Amino acid sequence: MNKEIGRRDFLKAAVAGAAGLAAAGALGGAAFADEGQSAAPRFEGKPKFAGIGSVREVTDDIFYVGVSDRRIQLFENVYPIPRGVAYNSYVILDEKTALVDTVDRSVTGQFFENLTAVLDGRDLDYLIVNHMEPDHSSAISEVLVRYPNAKVVCTMAASLILNQFFACDISDRGIFVREGDTLSLGKHTLAFVMAPMVHWPEVMMSYDVATGVLFSADAFGSFGALNGNLFADEVDFEKDWLPDARRYYCNIVGKYGDQVQAVLAKAATVDIRMLCPTHGPVWRENLGWILEKYSLWSSYTPEEQAVMVVYGSVYGGTESAANAVAAMISQKGVADVAVYDVSKTHVSELIGEAFRCSHIVLASITYNMGIFTPMKNFLLDLEAHNLQKRTFALIENGSWSPASGKLMKEILDRLASVSYAGDIVTFLSSPDADDHDALAALADAVAASVLGGEAVEEAEETTVARWVCDVCGYVYEGDALPEDFKCPLCGAGPDHFAQA
Ligand code: FEO
Repeated sequence: MNKEIGRRDFLKAAVAGAAGLAAAGALGGAAFADEGQSAAPRFEGKPKFAGIGSVREVTDDIFYVGVSDRRIQLFENVYPIPRGVAYNSYVILDEKTALVDTVDRSVTGQFFENLTAVLDGRDLDYLIVNHMEPDHSSAISEVLVRYPNAKVVCTMAASLILNQFFACDISDRGIFVREGDTLSLGKHTLAFVMAPMVHWPEVMMSYDVATGVLFSADAFGSFGALNGNLFADEVDFEKDWLPDARRYYCNIVGKYGDQVQAVLAKAATVDIRMLCPTHGPVWRENLGWILEKYSLWSSYTPEEQAVMVVYGSVYGGTESAANAVAAMISQKGVADVAVYDVSKTHVSELIGEAFRCSHIVLASITYNMGIFTPMKNFLLDLEAHNLQKRTFALIENGSWSPASGKLMKEILDRLASVSYAGDIVTFLSSPDADDHDALAALADAVAASVLGGEAVEEAEETTVARWVCDVCGYVYEGDALPEDFKCPLCGAGPDHFAQA
């Protein structure tokens, strides 16, 4: 059977099934039996609770219908989220109704309770899919069954990936939009802004011209469940949310700084009064503060003149050296110094800190003639997230053949615009008095660099070229775009690719 027809048939069958059930009264109406047939047993039960769940008013006709998940341990099965996470979704009530994004499958019960309460008997006219990742789209199939008249507004790339994940062909009810297309709901008009690779290639944002609300997909989101409060100005964001917002951005979208910068440039041309992301609090005040954070993070500019010292140690010698260096850097007048055991700190925390701090001291044992495994994992993750513009200092330990310093530098040299403070400090097993002098010299060099004094050795800059598909947003990385290149997502040829 043709795969697409099979998928389309599957969807139509599901919709027809739902319509049939509704006609028979099984969805919301009273059950009955045809004349001449035996009546099926009836269970009256109690009336379904029809409260407002986690609904919040965003404006007088835009409503939050998202849900927080406090049971989840690992976001994307990778990132620990002890504070949980919110999957944000919004309803616009106008002459037409629109639902902006959905939620993860883990919270659909509360989601449909919210959605039903807000629609209050109205049909759903449009489902806007800004981002197709399943934490926002795994409720789409059920939305389409419950609201068979709803049209799906998304990019062509989103429709393709939706079908890949959920065998859900929307070709007969999809409206596929491109940069600058608009959709009128009545008083509200949504303008669609393509945002490829923020965080997947199919991502777009929806800007409500009437209210200045930007439905920004993953951008400006954060780990952390909402606790009744919805707006960033209802919480102490800098104290209670910023570390998780940073960790979320850097680990989820950090690699795609160029694409985030491109969207920020577009955002600067319109009057944005509210940011409604798909995770975390909504921004209606002090938007410049979070936009500035994004500008720093996406340009890989250090957020603070600060030092993180990361060590990988087995028997304590390297830990002792790291502690000594941190103490001496602090003694030199650097206020913001933080020390991390690479074996005990989740790498997502280290990535977030690396985006925050201007200087990074790495101390590693030599292990199997290489870098201590958790340290190597951290460095490769730094490279994967495209970290740039940092100053490093290196300490290596080895009981008979220390090699980790040179090997760490080989990885760091692949990052763009890195520099080094001081020389690599080498010691055997545990630092002695001479080693202490070398560590003190290293601490001096780091502190001088942080405090704005000494010039540091510039490493060769490494850059990777990128080409972006103007049809679906797919990004190709490499030395040159092959002449016969074909976009793996939408099939567009090289003429549709422009260098980013
Ligand atoms: Fe929250 Fe990229 O999904």
